Amino acid sequence: MTIGKKMTDALNGQIKEEIFSAYLYFAMAADYESKDWPGVASWMKVQAQEEMGHAFKIYNWINERGGKAVFEAIDKPQESWDSALELFEGALKHEQHITACFYNLVKIAREEGDISTEIFLQWFVTEQVEEEANASEIVGKIKKVQDSQNGMYMLDKELSIRSAAPAQSDSQS
Ligand code: FEO
Repeated sequence: MTIGKKMTDALNGQIKEEIFSAYLYFAMAADYESKDWPGVASWMKVQAQEEMGHAFKIYNWINERGGKAVFEAIDKPQESWDSALELFEGALKHEQHITACFYNLVKIAREEGDISTEIFLQWFVTEQVEEEANASEIVGKIKKVQDSQNGMYMLDKELSIRSAAPAQSDSQS
């Protein structure tokens, strides 16, 4: 069954959200690269890559269902953050917003009777639990060590270990 216009429009809106997410995490990486926190910057670059994977996944789904992806203008992200705590709290807040976007997409899929898109979206709903948990865990760690230069140095090292997840470039993975 070909995807409906309302569902396509909503998924196109989410492609924009995902590409904006990549843009935001790239901006976060750039800010912390310039402040000499390579581990934080590396973590953010991996996150940016994953966000592009999410955009591709939705793009592929629209195509597979006979729709057409349409690209909207991407907003300019914030350029600078005052502290690592502010940075990761910003990431957490952003992920909570993205979770709300997916809940809304599931609602639309249900209203439209688009069961296959509803099932497709379940991957993202689960992924969002992990995305929020990751950011929240780092916020917690920063709160513990933020007044300690040594602690922040160790945390930066720990964050540098994160590697890219396999590219989510098809709708099955
Ligand atoms: Fe694609 Fe971080 O949600």
